[in-house]
Amino acid sequence: MKTAITELFGIEHPIIQGGMHFVGFAELAAAVSNAGGLGIITGLTQKTPELLAKEIARCRDMTDKPFGVNLTFLPTFAAPPYPEYIAAIVEGGIKAVETAGRSPEQYMPALKAAGIKVIHKCTSVRHSLKAERIGCDAVSVDGFECGGHPGEDDIPNMILLPRAAEELKIPFVASGGMADGRSLVAALSLGAAGMNMGTRFIATKEAPVHQNVKNALVAATELDTRLIMRALRNTERVLKNANVDRLLEIEREKGAKLSIDDIHDQVAGVYPKIMLDGQMDAGAWSCGMVAGLIHDIPSCKELVDRIMDEAEEIIRSRLMGFLDGTGAARKVA
Ligand SMILES: Cc1cc2nc3c(=O)[nH]c(=O)nc-3n(C[C@H](O)[C@H](O)[C@H](O)COP(=O)(O)O)c2cc1C
Repeated sequence: MKTAITELFGIEHPIIQGGMHFVGFAELAAAVSNAGGLGIITGLTQKTPELLAKEIARCRDMTDKPFGVNLTFLPTFAAPPYPEYIAAIVEGGIKAVETAGRSPEQYMPALKAAGIKVIHKCTSVRHSLKAERIGCDAVSVDGFECGGHPGEDDIPNMILLPRAAEELKIPFVASGGMADGRSLVAALSLGAAGMNMGTRFIATKEAPVHQNVKNALVAATELDTRLIMRALRNTERVLKNANVDRLLEIEREKGAKLSIDDIHDQVAGVYPKIMLDGQMDAGAWSCGMVAGLIHDIPSCKELVDRIMDEAEEIIRSRLMGFLDGTGAARKVA
């Protein structure tokens, strides 16, 4: 399949693996890229720019296909040394960067000077248009369903994607709730040129996370995510567990007076405990509603091949069947 996104990033399939804290290590990025998608290393999971440079080199040893790096611009006072992280990305020969969080505007000249294609993750049309204005090459449009930070507008992809299509000139991928060939065809129908998946890629053989995390995703349903930190306007969609229940209790008690210190124990330093040690009640970790569509733990290649086969089958057979009159009796895939 060829779309503006496969052409932009030089990949075979229009499928991107979004940056994920303590998941997006070289093993996963390389596996996704080897499967024909665009794998992404999560920059800030590497504690220093030097460690990121090593992670890029490790990934390079595992694949000769293009892969990218995610740079998340956090709303923190003690900002990570972003220019040094960008230097590691440039020196590592990376040609695709997924930015997220605050606007990447001040770093665009450095990224563009190195010939890097920038895809910025946005949860609204207005942020997507800003990304276009500042020279981003593409946008990852992240609907309310998504795992992680869905923003504060609460617009699901059924509305957000066609709205983005109405306004954007640069290509975009659909992000949030994407899992299979049905998602890909729907995304293409709504105007996207591909899709970005987070949660689905965690439940793969190569994702270097504890087996408990993968099993939890298979066991979870679409009813099992919760929104936290709404009062802080830093909403995050996470998988429910004992400590998330406690966090929500604290949020109810504090109401609009909630401060980040009140929920420190439930959100700080949680990722290594969950992802590496498999302590599933340790605290809040990002997870999408798409968990309800995750029923197995395939390899990245099995997953990507299955998505592409299913998408082709839906387009050629199911959709064409409706047009030529043979599809009326056919069951949903
Ligand atoms: C465990 C986890 C960690 C994530 N960490 C980050 C991150 O550090 N930076 C970022 O830009 N997005 C992060 N995301 C968001 C994903 O890149 C992606 O946009 C999102 O998962 C898409 O929604 P989906 O989970 O429904 O596929 C994370 C998502 C998950 C599930």
